[in-house]
Amino acid sequence: MSDLYAVFGNPIAHSRSPAIHAAFAAASGEAMRYEARLAPIDGFAAAIAEFVAAGGRGANVTVPFKEEACRLCHRLSERAARAGAVNTLSFCAGEIVGDNTDGVGLVQDIAGNLGFPLAGRRILLLGAGGAARGVIAPLLAGLPASLHIANRSADKARALAASFADIAPVTAGSFAELAGKSFDLVINATSASLAGESLPLPAGRFAAGALAYDMMYGKGETPFLQQARMQGAERRADGLGMLVEQAAEAFRIWRGRRPETAPVLAELRRQLAP
Ligand code: ATR
Repeated sequence: MSDLYAVFGNPIAHSRSPAIHAAFAAASGEAMRYEARLAPIDGFAAAIAEFVAAGGRGANVTVPFKEEACRLCHRLSERAARAGAVNTLSFCAGEIVGDNTDGVGLVQDIAGNLGFPLAGRRILLLGAGGAARGVIAPLLAGLPASLHIANRSADKARALAASFADIAPVTAGSFAELAGKSFDLVINATSASLAGESLPLPAGRFAAGALAYDMMYGKGETPFLQQARMQGAERRADGLGMLVEQAAEAFRIWRGRRPETAPVLAELRRQLAP
């Protein structure tokens, strides 16, 4: 019998995680199955309990359950505790253990796949919600020259920045307060594009050679990357690589080996080609 894993979310039908993990399992010869499971909005804990009772070995968690998953765990990795959110659950000996691989997935994509090391860079993070919180500690671990958070609600950005002050100084403010500053790496962690809205990013923020990175992805250029191109960002990347890299890190947690990601990313990229 192969070991059972699943991703839980709502909605979940369009999740690419089953295809990604099936490709990892096939390439590495691991005997595992991985399914997509729709959890009711008010029934996440029950869905997990049922899955564990049915022999599930581990699970990924996506929108909108990452914070609830964090509260469900008996034990948390340090990075999950920092993020206040869990995207990877392991079920062992009656315990639920939570981790968060989103941040390392982002850093692996930027520093590894895209060949853009973080050390010494001036980083601008757009957004102060759960997606932003999850990547701050892993970004700081890359020893950037600075990390600044800009958010529509500036107070929320300042509170978020303050909660990481024990690791490194993080500055924060509104979009308007970005005037006059420039950055080597600008990461979009807002959900503005889901609402079809563009960001009030003042022009001239991208330094020479800067990388614009959108944690979102889709068919064709995302709205943020289009905006970044118009504002002169020389390099641009969407979040497809982050998706594959966070999955690879979850696979490593469960199976003890990190799968090769390049062929899986190339295949997804081919499927998403406009
Ligand atoms: P997630 O878990 O995806 O981070 P969230 O916690 O709801 O979701 O956070 C959404 C983020 O996108 C917030 O930073 C939000 O800004 P506010 O805190 O000011 O609400 C940001 N966001 C959403 N729509 C936006 C828009 N149209 N313009 C700018 N920022 C937006």
